[in-house]
Amino acid sequence: MTHTLTLTRPDDWHLHLRDGAMMDGVLPHSAAHFGRAIIMPNLVPPVRTAADAAAYRARILAALPKGAGFTPLMTLYLTETTEAEDVAAAAAAGLVTAVKLYPAGATTNSQSGVSNFDTVMPVLERMAEIGLPLCVHGEVTDPAVDIFDREAVFIARILAPLRARLPELRVVLEHVTTSDGVDYVKSAQAGLAATITTHHLMINRNHMLVGGIRPHYYCLPIVKRASHMEALRKAATSGDARFFLGTDSAPHVDATKECGCGCAGVFSAPNTLACLAHVFEEMGALERLEGFTSLNGPAFYRLAPNSAKITLQKQDEPVPYPARIETGAGPVTVFDPGHPLFWQVVGG
Ligand code: NCD
Ligand code: ZN
Repeated sequence: MTHTLTLTRPDDWHLHLRDGAMMDGVLPHSAAHFGRAIIMPNLVPPVRTAADAAAYRARILAALPKGAGFTPLMTLYLTETTEAEDVAAAAAAGLVTAVKLYPAGATTNSQSGVSNFDTVMPVLERMAEIGLPLCVHGEVTDPAVDIFDREAVFIARILAPLRARLPELRVVLEHVTTSDGVDYVKSAQAGLAATITTHHLMINRNHMLVGGIRPHYYCLPIVKRASHMEALRKAATSGDARFFLGTDSAPHVDATKECGCGCAGVFSAPNTLACLAHVFEEMGALERLEGFTSLNGPAFYRLAPNSAKITLQKQDEPVPYPARIETGAGPVTVFDPGHPLFWQVVGG
């Protein structure tokens, strides 16, 4: 039986495109299926200022395949020297859609992030005034905190006090990975949402570590135990508009993942929608897929949903997708959920 699903064209509310040859290689995969994406600013050096964001946006637009209906939504990387005026001007000009907070040292290219939250309060206060959302990498970096606990501790130590201090600030708790995170988002009154990645809905730490270590499942925040994955699957498929898709598709060339100290990041852009349809079908929630991929995110960001549509079809046989893509920077392995996929994007 062939089953067809037509959705409002999805958006990706957390995406790493990188730059140069890597961007040239990965961008067409997101542009093929997504209308818009929040573009992460963790380049080296980071996208710190309005001028940096304008230049990066121009490079993305220049790298887009002809006729692609894809709009990059830019973010600024919050540092302890970010100027509130620069952020406000970039927002007023429509150049940036959000500001990204990395606790210093939390993840790939986060060295320039924030250590002392007091120093960034003037910027956050200004953002609260103008309604510009803060996207948060929600992990503490305290070496004494176990890596599997870093999200829950971040919420207790940093995020809850910050939101109590500045309740008007609109916050996205990005790539939420725990039931603690889900519960915290559900307990909030307003102004808080969370993105969920594709891979955190499909793999847990057993997939990463049992029977051999799988470097292509290593990402940050790290995948947690199965009960957390179940909480994420419930949240994503619940219809609760505070949860929406941010793939966190984060390409690294294979040589930097398959080595003695591998980089964090899962590259899922090519098969993300096939994976999500699989999960939502398993959860008996295919009718809620569109909310998660295409409606809840724009509602939080106060944008209209895309007017274009995309069609997925369920095939009788497993659908093929590449094990890896070749980029000018080197090969990049595509997320393998560990079982066949049957859904396929057939038009959009
Ligand atoms: C991201 C990257 O590679 O830039 N890696 C990851 O594991 N998600 C950074 C991030 O979003 O934490
Ligand atoms: Zn990311």
